[in-house]
Amino acid sequence: MHSKPRKMVDNPHVQLNPTTQHQEQELLLQSQRFKELKAFDETKAGVKGLIDAGISKVPQIFINNNKTPHKTSPSKSPSSSAEFQIPVIDLIKVENDDGSSGGRKLIIDQVREACEEFGFFQVVNHGVPKEIIDEMIEGVRGFHEQPHDLKKEYYSRDRSRKVRYNSSFDLYESKVANWRDSMFFAMAPQPPNPKELPTPCREITFLYSSHVKKLGFTLLELLSEALGLKAKYLEEIECGKGHALISHYYPACPEPNKTMGTTEHSDPDFFTILLQDNIGGLQVLYQNQWVDVKPVEGALVINLGDLMQLISNDKFKSARHRVLAKSIGPRISIACFFNNYDESSNRIYGPIEELLSEENPPLYTETTVKGYTVYFYSKGLSTSTPPLQDFKI
Ligand code: OGA
Ligand code: NI
Repeated sequence: MHSKPRKMVDNPHVQLNPTTQHQEQELLLQSQRFKELKAFDETKAGVKGLIDAGISKVPQIFINNNKTPHKTSPSKSPSSSAEFQIPVIDLIKVENDDGSSGGRKLIIDQVREACEEFGFFQVVNHGVPKEIIDEMIEGVRGFHEQPHDLKKEYYSRDRSRKVRYNSSFDLYESKVANWRDSMFFAMAPQPPNPKELPTPCREITFLYSSHVKKLGFTLLELLSEALGLKAKYLEEIECGKGHALISHYYPACPEPNKTMGTTEHSDPDFFTILLQDNIGGLQVLYQNQWVDVKPVEGALVINLGDLMQLISNDKFKSARHRVLAKSIGPRISIACFFNNYDESSNRIYGPIEELLSEENPPLYTETTVKGYTVYFYSKGLSTSTPPLQDFKI
């Protein structure tokens, strides 16, 4: 790059014209892409709308030309972890402190290992009743499959709205759009007025939210203890104060190899509780391999977010993950982000002092949840460097 200006002085005609031509072409492509994005956005019907309209090819805005999205391995190394499964942790004896087998101590050890190694695990016997889980999935389906006229009222990219729905939250920021529609509800600390929620999932969302919040606080205790801190540590620094439910609907895709359900990313929160149906497609990056997070009957998936990696000073990992587009569907998933995204909170988060020492100096600068989230949103998912990198000292 640096040699170009010098050459241009030598022979401006040869060098300048191709560059300008290239830039013009690039600008033309960008403006064409912007028009297509805007046209899609203005339908307010999302990816589901494209399917309802009967398309048989994936439109250009969803196609990532630089990548073959379905490769299992980002490197050339052979797939050694094809049969590998992320840990499934049984929480049935989480209250059992008497040292009996499968009790709390063992659970904390399993959580520590999973958080240090993968940043991902599944939990069973987690206390969220099966009926609530099934009804939540049906409620989300009910919202996305209701008539367009009812649904479009909720379509918005205004991040101050506690209740909204759209397709690719980073549509204009990212290089490529994703094959999914999502509904966003900010449920805590200040829930929306129930009337603001769409009727197909109004009651069940509040019910699911209260159950998942309870599980969230149990997990915060386990995570605190796994870090060697007192059980209430992470709760007291308000890692569980806020949560948002993001419900995804991934329609069946006519050309699943050309696009992605969700681009590779790590979550911008402390941790996420994810409910997925039985379709599959979620993958986690482990030792440079994409590993399937296979649906386990009745289980919930837990993954750590960037803010947990930041406050734990890299002791715990926020793993990168993605969702493949599939020829079957729709796939439904409900992510509960614990991130205290409260306009009024100015709480500063940095590496936890108790975890630092001379050998373990802080690796990250301090930030607020809002500061981190706004930065994450400004980059979008298809960014070349993970946003957490930019908070490294
Ligand atoms: C997310 C996410 C995975 C899924 O919402 O951040 O990674 O299975 N979702 O939908
Ligand atoms: Ni995620």
